[in-house]
Amino acid sequence: MQGMAPVGKLTAAGKMMSLSRTETFAAAHRLSSKSLNDAENKKLFGKCNHSHGHNYKVTVTVRGEINPISGMFMNIYTLQKYMQEAIMEPLDHKNLDQDVEFFASVVSTTENLAVYIWNNLEKILPSGCLYKVKLYESDKNFIVYKGE
Ligand code: NI
Repeated sequence: MQGMAPVGKLTAAGKMMSLSRTETFAAAHRLSSKSLNDAENKKLFGKCNHSHGHNYKVTVTVRGEINPISGMFMNIYTLQKYMQEAIMEPLDHKNLDQDVEFFASVVSTTENLAVYIWNNLEKILPSGCLYKVKLYESDKNFIVYKGE
């Protein structure tokens, strides 16, 4: 081992970091497109054309430079508060199709739910730091959306 690095070199200030936090929420929905008739919806969405629920898991990743004073990019509790406002309050224990205005005209697929979550977060997070929304509909299926 060489000698210890100078103190100033120990800081990660200015380095880009990503920070992620996961929350879970329960919501009900029914997949049905207003552009299709009943038979077409049944054929396309199968059993998902019936009302059912999911325990969703969502991981939000923000990205930015480490603040040299705090040693953090963003306090994890701050990210938790943003996720509470953008995800938990509008979605947890809700019927997506009936309780969330966005889904009055948009099919409540996991893809569209990821876009809804991204849009909500983008409105309240500091500009440019939102990097990724990873949304699990089940243990086996997930969607990744990066705002593209
Ligand atoms: Ni479903």
